[in-house]
Order: sequence, then C-alpha cells, then structure tokens
Amino acid sequence: MASRNRDLYVHLEDELKKLINETSLEKVTSLLERIKKENSLYGLVWPTDEIKERIPFSLENGFFPVLKNIKELEIKSNQDLFNSNVLVEGDNYHLLKILQATHQQKVNVIYIDPPYNTGNKDFKYNDNFVDEDDNYRHSKWLTFMEKRLKLARNLLTMDGLIFISIDNHEFAQLKLLCDEIFGERNFITNFIWKKKNGGGNDSRFIITEHEYVYVYARSIKRTFFKKDTKATVEMKYPFQDEKGFYQLERLDKQSLGYQKSLDFPIYDKDNKKYIPKQKNPASPNARWRWSEETVKQRFNELVFKNGQVYTKNYQKSEYLPASILYDERFGRTQSGKILLKKILGKDTFSYPKPVELIKHLLRVSTHKDSLILDFFAGSGTTAQAVMELNKEDGGNRKFILGTNNENNICTDVTYKRVKKVIDGYLKVAPCQEGMQYLKIDFIAQEKQWKEEIKDFQFQKQLFPKLESIYLFKENASYMTLKKENVNYSIYESGQNNIIFVRDADEFVEKMTKVLQKDIHEKTKFIIFNYFHNNQFDLQDDKLLIERFLKCLHEKGLQVDLSQIEIGPKNIINNMIKGCL
Ligand SMILES: C[S@@+](CC[C@H](N)C(=O)[O-])C[C@H]1O[C@@H](n2cnc3c(N)ncnc32)[C@H](O)[C@@H]1O
Repeated sequence: MASRNRDLYVHLEDELKKLINETSLEKVTSLLERIKKENSLYGLVWPTDEIKERIPFSLENGFFPVLKNIKELEIKSNQDLFNSNVLVEGDNYHLLKILQATHQQKVNVIYIDPPYNTGNKDFKYNDNFVDEDDNYRHSKWLTFMEKRLKLARNLLTMDGLIFISIDNHEFAQLKLLCDEIFGERNFITNFIWKKKNGGGNDSRFIITEHEYVYVYARSIKRTFFKKDTKATVEMKYPFQDEKGFYQLERLDKQSLGYQKSLDFPIYDKDNKKYIPKQKNPASPNARWRWSEETVKQRFNELVFKNGQVYTKNYQKSEYLPASILYDERFGRTQSGKILLKKILGKDTFSYPKPVELIKHLLRVSTHKDSLILDFFAGSGTTAQAVMELNKEDGGNRKFILGTNNENNICTDVTYKRVKKVIDGYLKVAPCQEGMQYLKIDFIAQEKQWKEEIKDFQFQKQLFPKLESIYLFKENASYMTLKKENVNYSIYESGQNNIIFVRDADEFVEKMTKVLQKDIHEKTKFIIFNYFHNNQFDLQDDKLLIERFLKCLHEKGLQVDLSQIEIGPKNIINNMIKGCL
C-alpha cells in the first residue's frame, strides 16, 4: 500500500536521524540494511501530499452534496411508470459520495471509461489539463482514480463486477491500483479489444490497434458470467446428423503420452481391425483417447472412415466469453463515432465507445433486472447499450449514469442521445424506457459539518433538500411533489406515495382527515425529525418508529413497521463517514 510504505519510510528516516546523532556506525549499517530490505516491499507507491486533489464544494469545506431533480428534463416512459433510469450531472466524486448513502451493495455491474491520461488534453486535474511532461502525471491520475474506485467498490453487490476501459498510458498503473482496491484474486480478465482496422499512418513503430478492459469481481467466489451466445468459432463443422453439425476428430493421438492399456485393437461392425498407427513401431507413441471400457460403452458414437476411427465434435451454440474481442461484432471506435453522429445529426464527441462493445460486456455479465452504473458516462453509450439489451431480451435492467457537463456534454450529448434512443431515431423503433435527470447541488455552511447539523435553522434548510436523495434511494425519482407544509411533504406517483415527516409528533397531532386519506398500505414514511426535538430519544431509531407507529394505529391507520424509515441521520452519517 502506498500509505503503508510512506509511513514506514518516515519512521525509518526518523530512526536514522536519531542514530546519526548517536554516531553509532554499527547501528546505522544495520538500519541501512533494513531499509534496503524494506525497499523491496511489493506494492504501488506514489507521492500524494504534493498533489492533493482539490474538489470544489467538498464536504471538508462545509459543502454537502445533494440532488436537484430537473423535472423539465424528465423523459417519461410511455409504459412503465416506475422506470428509474437516472442521469446525474456533476463531478462523479460527489455522485459516488451520494451513492454511499443510497446504493451500497445495490449495483450489479459498473462500466467506466475514465480519461486515459494521454497527455493530450484528455485529463483535467485541479482545473488544469495534465500534459505529457508533467512529473506527477501518473500520480495525479492514480490519486484521482483511487478516490473514486474505493467508493465505487462499496456499491457493488457481492456477485457484482466492474469493467474499466483503459489503454497503454495507464494500463500498468491501473492493474496495480485495482489489485489493491479489489484484491488481486478478484481479477477476472483483461479484455483486449480491437479498436480499429489498420490505418496507423501516424504511428512511429507499431500500429496500436487495441485497448483493454479490465474486469474485477467484488468477490470471485460469488460472481458469475453468462455464455457468449453470439460467439462463432473459426472451426468448420462440415458434417450433419440429427444432433446437429459436427466435425470428426481422430480417436488415436500421438501427443497424449503412450500407455500400453490404451493401445488395443478395435473392430468395426464388419469385424475390420483398427489399431493406433505407430510411426515407429520400435518406439510406440500413439494410443486411443478412450479406454477399452469406454469404447465398449460408446461404440455407437464412433465413426469408421478411410481406415481411421473418429469421434464426433458437435458445434456448440454458446461458448465461454473469450478475452480477445477481435470480431467486427464488438464494434470499432469508428463505428461508435458514426452511430453517435447518426443519432444526434452532428459530430459532438470524439471517442465514444461502440454500443456493440458495451452490449457484449453487459450481455455476459448482467441478468434481466441488473442495475448498471457508469460514472464516466461521456456520450452515454452505456445507457444505449442497456436499453438495447432490454429491448432484445425483454429485460428490465436500469442504469445510473454520471458525467460532468464539460463543454455541455451532459445536457447536449448524453441527455439528447438517451432521449433520441427512447423516442426512436432514423428507422430505429422507440424503447419503453424513461429517465430522470438529476443534478448535483450543494448546501453550503461556513463551519464543519458535524457541528452545524445540530443547528435548527440549518436543518430546516437542509432536510427538504435531502428528499431528492431519498427518492433516489427508493428508486422513486419519478415521483412528484403533491402536498407540502411545515410538517411534511408528500411525493406521489400512481398508487404509490412517500411521506417525508419533518416532525413526527406534530405530524400525528395535526393530522387532518384529508391527510389520513393519503395514508395506505403502499405509503412509505421517512421520518426527518429535526434533531432539536428531544421528545423522542433520537439516539434510538427503534423507539421513535414504534412510537410513531402506535400513534398512527391510535388514529385507526393500518400501517406496517416496514413502511417506516428514519431519514437524514443515516444519510448524513453515511456520507460524512470516511469522507475523503
Ligand atoms: C472517455 S470519456 C467516456 C466516453 C464514454 N464511454 C462514451 O462512450 O461516450 C470520459 C468522460 O468522463 C467525463 N469526466 C471526466 N472526469 C469526470 C469527473 N470527475 N466527473 C464526472 N465526469 C467526468 C468527461 O467529461 C468525459 O466525458
């Protein structure tokens, strides 16, 4: 670990200074030996103090990230009311912090395509592009990625997977970083994707035709991969019988190691004798692949032809996914670019990934109701891939996409692309999907968070803004505000509603008959009790819920324990905990 090594160095350096003062040559020599040994400690080390990432509006500086629902940009699903695809505009660091409170262990697959750090204005760090001769070039990228990947890992389900696109610039650094964050044993593969065909007039020595996609499991023991149903192999299957196409494979082999017991005569139905053909009978090396027993049992499967004995290898309809993504079916950079231009009618974004590539990765890694996250969404290829897969197999996968709005990419490219795909473009039919558009917003405070939260006035300002985070957590960003007053707000969609209770006591006390009509078995209560209210023991959520439930029952309302949840305390704690 970087920090472990650094701490060790600081410690050894201090000891060395002390010893030099003592001028004990023997001790200095032995310490130098130790430093030499420790120096060979295995791991990834990079300087971090010099290049801290300054994230605008961070929690440490008194800003709290919240979500603002941009209702005008909502894309309504024309069928499924509860569709909760989401696009989030803003720095993905803030999105990942919010997701700590809303989606821990809920995301099945993460795909990301981060800046490759080519030195060619593709990676901005602390507001400046990192160029090729920046001495801290890799360190900046590693600091940036480490922070985000650590948060991302918490979001994966135990059988979840993360796919990360990368090229040669940070390929080695990323492997070591991921080994540290996800665990080396959770490494699954490093796909090699052929991104272009030939070209390369600008290449100096070798034409680089490929990139990589790293794959790590959250837990290798729990993960799964589906078969690649679209794989075709180059092998030919020239024969056919009632079971399908097949090729013939000789039963005698010279490469398996000679065994006397596997060198025996086989007789066909006409009693013709076959033996393994020995090139040099004095030193036999050919033998059958099957034992005498197997030959007896499976005699009908053998084919006798041209003086040889064969078995049938049938063509399979599906194969394990292969690590080299070479075929045209995985798309090329160029096909991704052409498709995006077709959808939006103009060139908007230089290097979108082809939908086919992402679709393949998701096809073999997701099930029909997986949740997929891409927090470097760029032009939104992942959203299109998810929606197209749903269309293909009737799935109900959902996506959460996050991207900043640099050069208006989120509003002008990502959003517009998703909208086009949902509405249908050119001759492509519409999808039965919808999407919410959320924007990262901030609540500012001058002081440190933990102290300020106790301030009543401040809670009045903060808590209503946390409602959108809760709706996001409940997959209910599609709900709209129906009623609001000082004690509560009610969000509703169809038969479902969520009531945010700002003060549990007041809520029950002042409950009118009209309000009671809004409460039914599908209502979800989120209690946002202000912290100043000491009528309930605020340390004890259970007590608060029980008391609230009892009051509702006394009013004759049939509400179940599972319908009540405690609000902001948990959100705030989860987000502040381990904050940077
Ligand atoms: C390489 S592109 C992804 C392309 C995408 N896979 C596609 O097919 O269109 C990376 C994207 O991440 C965005 N990005 C970079 N840093 C970010 C950050 N800190 N937060 C959010 N988005 C970021 C960039 O604006 C860029 O659009």
